Amino acid sequence: MTNQLDKKSQAWSALFSEPMSELVKRYTASVFFDKRLWQADIQGSLAHAEMLAAQKIIGAQDLADIERGMAQITQEIESGAFEWKLDLEDVHLNIEARLTQLVGDAGKRLHTGRSRNDQVATDVRLWLRSEMDLITDLLLDLQKSLVEVAEKNVEVILPGFTHLQVAQPVSFAHHLLAYVEMFARDAERMGDVRRRTNRLPLGSAALAGTTYPLDRERVARTLGMVDAQGNAQVCQNSLDGVSDRDFAIEFTAAASICMVHISRLSEELILWMSQNFGFIQIADRFTTGSSIMPQKKNPDVPELARGKTGRVVGHLMGLITLMKGQPLAYNKDNQEDKEPLFDTVDTLKDTLRIFSEMVGGQVNPTTGAKEGGIAVNAAAMEAAAKKGFATATDLADYLVKKGLPFRDAHETVAHAVKAAASHNCDLSELPLKVLQGFHASIEKDVYDCLSLQGSLHARDTLGGTAPIQVRAQIARHYKRFM
Ligand code: ARG
Repeated sequence: MTNQLDKKSQAWSALFSEPMSELVKRYTASVFFDKRLWQADIQGSLAHAEMLAAQKIIGAQDLADIERGMAQITQEIESGAFEWKLDLEDVHLNIEARLTQLVGDAGKRLHTGRSRNDQVATDVRLWLRSEMDLITDLLLDLQKSLVEVAEKNVEVILPGFTHLQVAQPVSFAHHLLAYVEMFARDAERMGDVRRRTNRLPLGSAALAGTTYPLDRERVARTLGMVDAQGNAQVCQNSLDGVSDRDFAIEFTAAASICMVHISRLSEELILWMSQNFGFIQIADRFTTGSSIMPQKKNPDVPELARGKTGRVVGHLMGLITLMKGQPLAYNKDNQEDKEPLFDTVDTLKDTLRIFSEMVGGQVNPTTGAKEGGIAVNAAAMEAAAKKGFATATDLADYLVKKGLPFRDAHETVAHAVKAAASHNCDLSELPLKVLQGFHASIEKDVYDCLSLQGSLHARDTLGGTAPIQVRAQIARHYKRFM
């Protein structure tokens, strides 16, 4: 069967006097990466065809032929039998050419009232929408892993740092729950981006709309592009619909922020694993050895994740710069949106998957329990917290309760810390007599607040590290996960 699209390699139409050069063909083709959009492309085409038939723009038989052809194409692509052709430039033309080969004129009618410009914008939105849903699920898994580890470590005391100097004792669970907050916001951000991504460009045609009586809202509903109330979500300006990729930029920004959170967690895992901290171990399957130093176990996974953060932030820079200065409406520049977007999605998904398992462990199929997450060395954490006068603020607060103005208490405690440092001991190890030398109001009960446990339990405000608060947060998260 002759097919106009098959002749595209010769020239687009009668208008062209020479075929495209081989180099230009390779330079402009996108099929070898955008074929990844094939499901979205078929989904969009079927919704468009269904509407064309409902509007009597094509016949019922045309629609049936298109549906039959697309079913066969789906099967061919899934089985690997589909032949992707560079000559046909992109995913859209490859699928359309095959459809026409299979069903004839009905295939040629599919493109009525449509352009590749609104087609590709629709495909990318549909594809990204489903990827964002997967990412949101993965973010939930990671939050669950962190909460599960937190639950087992509420009373484990970690030196909380500012400037990476020992500051105040915190519950290890509290520390992990800080990351749960970050990943919960990342999921929320995905939801926000999803809302703006889930709008239909189809019907914008090349740039100005079309002369056919399309029912765009019908297509939007078919594709699930609806708001929470079920109202169809359609791009309201055709020029904007075909040209802007702000949703892709927003997504990459949200992904970058998420990777930045991952990189912070990575950095801490790396530090905690180093011999100088010795706070945790991660399971061997996430570490690698050294080819020369037999004693080494390196945290390659968190290190790579920290590195891959740069890659995702790079994609954000790429996409935002791609959009800069583009005049309305569609420009071929936009074909460059795909590879950064694909790589961002792949990198983020893999990273989230691996982190859930590295932190929380893997489900044992026989017991159903999770095994092999991070192993916590509570004694090492507590010993480290004891080293840096982590309860100095508590002593100052104690003096304030005795009536001293905070600034004076702060100064008094500085002298006590100096004395303890010169005796090479902790504040809690200074005898009462010595402490009373700094302020007469100090009594025996001071030791309650100088202990790490006392300090921890005293921070009993909403969002604070007291175990009672931490347990309340864990309960809140579990409720949220239900
Ligand atoms: N492959 C193109 C892209 O990704 C499809 C749209 C092409 N439109 C055009 N007028 N050349 O953007």
